[in-house]
Amino acid sequence: MNYDTSQEPTLVLGGSGKVGRRVVDRLTARGVRVRIGSRSGEPRFDWEDRSTWGAVLEGVGSAYVSHYWDARPGAAETLGSFADLAVESGVPRLVLLSGRGEEEAERGERAVRYSGAELTVVRSTWFAQNFSEDYWREQVQGGEVALPAGGVPEPFVDAGDVADVAVAALTDDRHIGELYELTGPRLLTFTEAVLEISRAVGREVRYVPLSIEDFAVAAGDQGVPSEVVEGLTFLFGEVLDGRNARLADGVQRALGREPRDFSDYARDAATSGVWNPTTTRAA
Ligand SMILES: NC(=O)c1ccc[n+]([C@@H]2O[C@H](COP(=O)([O-])OP(=O)(O)OC[C@H]3O[C@@H](n4cnc5c(N)ncnc54)[C@H](OP(=O)(O)O)[C@@H]3O)[C@@H](O)[C@H]2O)c1
Repeated sequence: MNYDTSQEPTLVLGGSGKVGRRVVDRLTARGVRVRIGSRSGEPRFDWEDRSTWGAVLEGVGSAYVSHYWDARPGAAETLGSFADLAVESGVPRLVLLSGRGEEEAERGERAVRYSGAELTVVRSTWFAQNFSEDYWREQVQGGEVALPAGGVPEPFVDAGDVADVAVAALTDDRHIGELYELTGPRLLTFTEAVLEISRAVGREVRYVPLSIEDFAVAAGDQGVPSEVVEGLTFLFGEVLDGRNARLADGVQRALGREPRDFSDYARDAATSGVWNPTTTRAA
């Protein structure tokens, strides 16, 4: 059974984030009414303030659930509590974004499943868009991406593919009960990914390997908030150890097509001007 777009709105948590805003755009284009759940949404939603949870769930038919940092200790309990409240509030249909290879994120998946929700899990590897819409955009603009990523390959996935799978799951009941592990079609080391970006922008952008310790100090000096530094050092120090250095077929299974290649992402992001040294736009 497909979702009736004339019915209640769909709640999109993290609806201003890299995947969330694409989910919002795609649902809106299909005529699905959307409510964004974030600290800047209306009503305001804050994962750290449970008194804000009930209002965003009121009257919605389904929800895309994206915690702001699902690998953070305790996130699993928070996700479970939110899912319990959603089910109690009459919102049993949930699509959960989860991080691949992250123990806490997988605990979160189990906590949400335990709520009894009609669940689809979208378990994703690193987004290509981290280079253009988040952490590393300014480094690309500056011509040097300095990270503690070593030589481990990563199958970067396009945030647009993640959003396509989430929207398919939100709008088609055939995806209930599925766990889709999402990767791109190719393994790339950070050196190779930055080389692709360098080719796409037509100027030199170098990857510079850093130790975890030097990275944490440099990020702190650049004013990156300590909790973000903590999250990134966890991701680079623990999750990027080769455990995700394999391709998965979630995009094909959910959508019946191949995932988007990193070179297509890099070409389009370069064309948008997001990496031009003076621009401030997001791709
Ligand atoms: N980035 C990746 O490569 C990647 C890959 C796999 C999984 N993940 C996971 O996906 C999730 C989203 O990551 P992302 O990188 O896509 O994040 P993002 O683009 O930075 O988006 C974060 C979103 O969460 C909202 N938010 C932040 N703090 C919040 C709070 N306390 N309460 C409510 N909303 C809050 C933000 O909006 P406001 O600022 O308006 O609140 C924003 O909409 C995380 O759990 C992450 O671990 C990320």
